[in-house]
Amino acid sequence: MAKPLGMADTISRRTLLAAAGAAGLAPLSFSQSAQRAPHKGMPVAISSANGMRTTEKAMELLRAGQDGLDAAIAGVNIVEEDPNDMSVGYGGLPNERGVVELDSCCMHGPTYRAGAVASLRNIKTPSRVAKVVMERTDHVLLVGEGALEFARMHGFEETNLLTEAARKAWVKWKESLSKDDDYLEPPAASPLPARPTGTITCLTLNDKSEISGVTTTSGLAYKIPGRVGDSPIIGAGLYVDNQIGACGSTGRGEAVILSCGSRIVVENMRHGMTPEEACLDVLKRICDYTVDPLLLREKGRPNFEVNFYAVNKKGEFGGARIYRGGRYAVHDGTQNRLMDSAYLY
Ligand code: GLY
Repeated sequence: MAKPLGMADTISRRTLLAAAGAAGLAPLSFSQSAQRAPHKGMPVAISSANGMRTTEKAMELLRAGQDGLDAAIAGVNIVEEDPNDMSVGYGGLPNERGVVELDSCCMHGPTYRAGAVASLRNIKTPSRVAKVVMERTDHVLLVGEGALEFARMHGFEETNLLTEAARKAWVKWKESLSKDDDYLEPPAASPLPARPTGTITCLTLNDKSEISGVTTTSGLAYKIPGRVGDSPIIGAGLYVDNQIGACGSTGRGEAVILSCGSRIVVENMRHGMTPEEACLDVLKRICDYTVDPLLLREKGRPNFEVNFYAVNKKGEFGGARIYRGGRYAVHDGTQNRLMDSAYLY
């Protein structure tokens, strides 16, 4: 059952609407009220739209009493290991040289610890390696060869992550780059799809009100080798504060890094915004600060997408993005479903 808006919610909403009006923005699209778990103390699992199996699995494990971070990671492992999701893990689209490089981070609210890996090759489940970084080192982030050595040391199996479908997509991209190189145009002249920055995030709140989260990705398709997006950066692609709530992101990582997106969403919730309002506020900042003509389309709006997903300590949750049409997966303890994201335009 939806929670009626409280005074703090109403004020935050009014403030946001006024700010949007002053900036000449279209009215922000809010849900009528904050979404929340039907009963106090009921667990919640929230994920990006590619995470319906993730939220289902995470809820199964939360109900079985497993730790919230283990539940979230087991949920995203399903997508990391799925060759058909070309934005995450095995089967993810490679960098410009045809090598799949994965990024992931996780945060465990109850212990306020985190782990991350970036530009990790050959391992299907970077989220699990991130958790081992958290548990077995005094560091937070390992990158590249060091991250791979570390994964090997802990017995992770190495695999060629480049599937046939991803290899073919990469070859087509490479052959379409320029008319002045020695590659002939690809035979089937179907248009190239936009370069995805798809990713998966999963946030959990258990029946003890403990919060955890994980984000994992193969990053921007055909990126420059070594490019790292927001997904392994604590405070950008993920932030968990066990006293307040959590946020994860998908979409253009550079915009999320520049805005310290997930961290600011959590701070907004600390100051009384609902999860949805908190996400919309940061999206608005991202739009305001995007001034590079290369990143703008008509009406001075960004030519990219960013999505935030958030949950607070009370079990309220929400998702939002820049443009209409987004969805997110949520299991609120009674049902698993896709919900419409709020949006700016
Ligand atoms: N959000 C995923 C990335 O930009 O790499």
